[in-house]
Amino acid sequence: MRSPKDSMMTTPLAHLSYVEITSPDVEASVDFYVDQVGLTVVDRIDGKVYLRCWGDYYKYSVIVAPGDEPTLVTAAWRTSSAEALEQAAARVEAAGITGEWFDGPAIGRAYRFTGPWGHTLTLHWDVERVHVTEGDNASIYPDRPNRRSKVAGAPRQLDHVTIATSDVDGFAKWHSEVLGFRIMARTVLDEAPISVFSVLTTNEKSHDLGVVLDGSSRAGRVNHYAFWVDTREELLIAADVLMENGYPIEYGPSIHGIGEQNFLYYREPSSLRIELNTGGYRNYVPDWQPNTWRPSQGSNNFYRNSAMPMSMTESFPPADGPSATEEGVPDEIKDALFNPYAKHGQG
Ligand SMILES: [Fe+2]
Repeated sequence: MRSPKDSMMTTPLAHLSYVEITSPDVEASVDFYVDQVGLTVVDRIDGKVYLRCWGDYYKYSVIVAPGDEPTLVTAAWRTSSAEALEQAAARVEAAGITGEWFDGPAIGRAYRFTGPWGHTLTLHWDVERVHVTEGDNASIYPDRPNRRSKVAGAPRQLDHVTIATSDVDGFAKWHSEVLGFRIMARTVLDEAPISVFSVLTTNEKSHDLGVVLDGSSRAGRVNHYAFWVDTREELLIAADVLMENGYPIEYGPSIHGIGEQNFLYYREPSSLRIELNTGGYRNYVPDWQPNTWRPSQGSNNFYRNSAMPMSMTESFPPADGPSATEEGVPDEIKDALFNPYAKHGQG
């Protein structure tokens, strides 16, 4: 029988279900997602465009909304049951946050709250499933919601979101204690005891929620969100096609040390960073104890053989750069704080 303490350690969340982002040019972003990434438009409501990957089981996984700047409006997790949704909302309220209930398109009754670091999360149980059985889009395989995309390297599904916050360890601890995310790993600078990165998960993946240190004074920013492809070959094909079509690759293809995923970063027309991921370990250990990595151990780059471009330190919307977290940070480590992976050999 479970004690109350045990239930607090069990996550009521099942997986990341969708992200809503803003773009100053919705149609340019949507065209990019359709033509280059391989997503499909499934709905348009009040100026927002709803899209999904070919393997996503629910109606949508990405919403592009109009906005002056690229931002993350919300990241949504599906709960593991209707009761788990009530439990999750109660946990958030008990932590001193007041959220709101609303009815969302194809997700029914949902709970939305803005966390202590300014990021708005949405929790829901109900979904509208996709299973096309007739016509050109029907798959010949029963478990596929519809036919595989014809776009080379098109992701199967949404994978994770990585936000930016002024307190990496505090953010990880809050989401672990309140919503039961497992903290899987973190990165602390070689030069100083400052946490610059952490990964959290609600399932067997190394992360469906990442967090990077934000040195700006603007709360609630996002660094990137990511899609999943099944194989490294597909990731490499996607990189090849992006290059051929004139879309620069920001970083990769390579492998992260933490999580051991193959990665590829590029930008959509709003300038928001998106990522393709594949590979990596599965971790089912319920009482996993997160390890602390140093950049010199290859936390970001498994092979420790390349410098991360400074542009990767940009989060969205644009802000005033390192400021808040510079307080109390000695001059000699400011560079390391800004981009601990900028030095050759610092993975
Ligand atoms: Fe990522």
